[in-house]
Amino acid sequence: MKTDLDAFWMPFTANRQFKKAPRLLTRSSGMHYWTDDGRQILDGAAGLWCVNAGHARPKIVAAIQRQAAELDYAPPFQMAHPQAFALADALARIAPAGMNRVFFTNSGSEAVETALKMALAWHRVRGEGQRTRLIGRERGYHGVNFGGISVGGMVANRKMFGTMLGGVDHIRHTHDPARNAFSVGQPTHGAEFADDLERLVALHDASTIAAVIVEPVAGSTGVLVPPQGYLQRLREICDRHGILLIFDEVITGFGRTGQPFAAQTFGVTPDLIACAKGLTNGAVPMGAVIAKQSIHDAFMTGPEHLIEFFHGYTYSAHPLACAAGLATLETYADEGLLTRAGELAGYFAEALHALKGLPNVIDVRNCGLVGGVELAPIAGEPTRRAFDIFLDCYEHGALVRTTGDIVALSPPLIIERAQIDQLVDTLGQAIRRAA
Ligand SMILES: Cc1ncc(COP(=O)(O)O)c(C=O)c1O
Repeated sequence: MKTDLDAFWMPFTANRQFKKAPRLLTRSSGMHYWTDDGRQILDGAAGLWCVNAGHARPKIVAAIQRQAAELDYAPPFQMAHPQAFALADALARIAPAGMNRVFFTNSGSEAVETALKMALAWHRVRGEGQRTRLIGRERGYHGVNFGGISVGGMVANRKMFGTMLGGVDHIRHTHDPARNAFSVGQPTHGAEFADDLERLVALHDASTIAAVIVEPVAGSTGVLVPPQGYLQRLREICDRHGILLIFDEVITGFGRTGQPFAAQTFGVTPDLIACAKGLTNGAVPMGAVIAKQSIHDAFMTGPEHLIEFFHGYTYSAHPLACAAGLATLETYADEGLLTRAGELAGYFAEALHALKGLPNVIDVRNCGLVGGVELAPIAGEPTRRAFDIFLDCYEHGALVRTTGDIVALSPPLIIERAQIDQLVDTLGQAIRRAA
């Protein structure tokens, strides 16, 4: 058994700890996983924020099976297959108004890289090629490729990897527990944190800045919900200075916050949306950038036989991913899942905020069907408390996700109220045991 586990160098995993006590999932259906020893686990994390319609949904399974037998692969450069257009069209229909051009990738990280490159190239095709600077935000997570970690703001993801991209700067994060701890939904304080962009404009000059990228709700850094008015103000500042606004909706896309995209939940339309995860319900890897038509159209100049945007992946718009994506969007529509988080948000918030007062709980945050419970770290052992709670929850039949000393919940959008109770109850008991 030991040798069997050796070869796989696991991503974002404590490899040695895992291999001493492996946690192996062998089956999934609906709200549940089953382990290799037959235990049922309630999925409180939608896998990894991606299985929004729940596991092994029949329509999606059948679509992938059918597609694999019919057309396994089609080259996406200078060739295409019908499902790619159908999925792009279906995505445009649920995206914010005016965002109706779709570029496919294979992951959230690739969607981020694509959006950053699109922003730089867009300025250039319009004759503003000096706008090369990219602005991210502290505590941001934008995947693991070089562009994404450069604009990202999580120190552990950056510090080992040299100088990354040049010409990148960061606005401050929005976490303000002193004023906003235990906010239900969007915190009241902090719209003014968006003004930090004006500081960078004053430092670098707007004429050098191509784009700002933020997660509407920061997920991987511990569920940071945007303060009321913050995203609106960021949009205004970008508009004032001709800076593109990119929303990284890899986590928030596909109903997580109560609308198809967080852009719609918060009423702020960016220029580009990077998405992935829920796009195919996690069943086949896929990401996408959804662009405003005006961004796309700016590239459509010059001789028609020439490639307009020198970018793409061998597996862009892969037939299996497109089939999964179309069946996923159908499942979301059939079951009203893209707005279900809004319907359950109140119940979820109440259940989650009942954890206030448990030992070491220093903040509870929520938005749609995303929740964050921040714990006081064990002195000298950061991340240990949350990790122990994660293990305890797993032992007691629930999958949660942790980052630092924060427990994040993002269950599939099909979750029932009784399952919300079960999830939060399991977490609460684990928090008590870890005290
Ligand atoms: C906001 C955000 N952006 C990008 C990514 C990267 O996506 P992927 O792991 O599919 O590359 C993630 C993954 O969790 C994410 O949460």
